[in-house]
Amino acid sequence: MIRRGDVVGMPTETVYGLAGAAHDEMALTRIFGVKARPSFDPLIIHVSPGLLAKTGAPHALEALGKLKLVDVSALSGDAEKMVRALMDRFWPGPLTLILPKMPHVPDLATSGLPTVAIRMPLHPVAQALIDESGQPLAAPSANRFGRISPTEAMHVEKELGGRVEIILDGGPCAIGLESSVVSVNPLLLLRPGSISQSQLSEVISQALGKPTPVERATSHMVALSKAAQKSPGMLESHYSPKKPFGVFKSAGDFTVPHFSKWARGSVETLGLLLWSRQSHATALEYFKKYGGDPAKVLCLTETNDVAEAARNLFAMLRTLDDEADVDHIWAEPCPKDLAVEGLGYAIADRLARAAGPSQN
Ligand code: TXA
Ligand code: MG
Repeated sequence: MIRRGDVVGMPTETVYGLAGAAHDEMALTRIFGVKARPSFDPLIIHVSPGLLAKTGAPHALEALGKLKLVDVSALSGDAEKMVRALMDRFWPGPLTLILPKMPHVPDLATSGLPTVAIRMPLHPVAQALIDESGQPLAAPSANRFGRISPTEAMHVEKELGGRVEIILDGGPCAIGLESSVVSVNPLLLLRPGSISQSQLSEVISQALGKPTPVERATSHMVALSKAAQKSPGMLESHYSPKKPFGVFKSAGDFTVPHFSKWARGSVETLGLLLWSRQSHATALEYFKKYGGDPAKVLCLTETNDVAEAARNLFAMLRTLDDEADVDHIWAEPCPKDLAVEGLGYAIADRLARAAGPSQN
């Protein structure tokens, strides 16, 4: 199917993707069409250990050159050292690297950028699909543009079913949040994921033999950096439920400016996404004041575990979004001490984007 330009729902360890042949314009056009994705949003190209090994190249970087994806000659010095070290340490896994592209990569895949995003997923079904196809696969998250990423095959079926002929069911995603996206030139974390800034900095510092912190692409830098500007994972509004959605200011504090006013009378249609089971009693007590129990309450983690919360985040947001009795959703953010880095920071990032810029 991949070879004749079709697209396939593909499980990965982060979220489900919608995969098609990376060098095939027809497949790329179908991906954008199925997702209703604007063409200014570039795709991530997925490779497997088997596909790279088949090139006979000595290192993943040269293999990406042989696969006509990455212009290896455009990388040298520190940037090259960083890329090799990051691939050696984090591939296969949830790290996407922004690299100089070969002219063979269709502009559609990169939105005309001079760079291409590459990732090697860890999920055995994703690797098998790439191996079987015998070529790199472009795959964005398998949701409609701007919506919540799918972490189960059923989510893809519900959102894109009918538009995709085959969805491979690889079970629920082990991580549940999209990969960390890193550019090396300039060195920036463009999208936070489970691989943290300190893990990235440690590997890079060791490779260069000098302390080299990885900066986050803040909105200020996004304005300055062309690469980041073109990374819609950085858009302020993304990953959004259909229903009105807000995030409380901090964990354990359910007061929101004006909340008491608009919640009056509507608390019974409120869908609550709590950080942990520990918040349950406090939250219910709090909302009693406003006329009863919320329509539905879900807890991201039973025991304050960020990995569990990350796995549950998108699925629970979807459940609340699909629940007939719920007409607005509020989420308790991750506790501040957990939100500084890695998954906790990535969860905070997704919640803020799901709420969109209008919240502030
Ligand atoms: O975990 C993941 O990365 C999942 C799974 C399916 O692999 N894929 C995923 O793809 O999240 P997508 O298309 O939803 O997000 C890709 C992100 C976007 O924010 C896009 O703008 C950015 O990567 N990106 C792609 N190419 C880029 C480039 N050349 N420069 C900067 N950002 C780029
Ligand atoms: Mg996406």
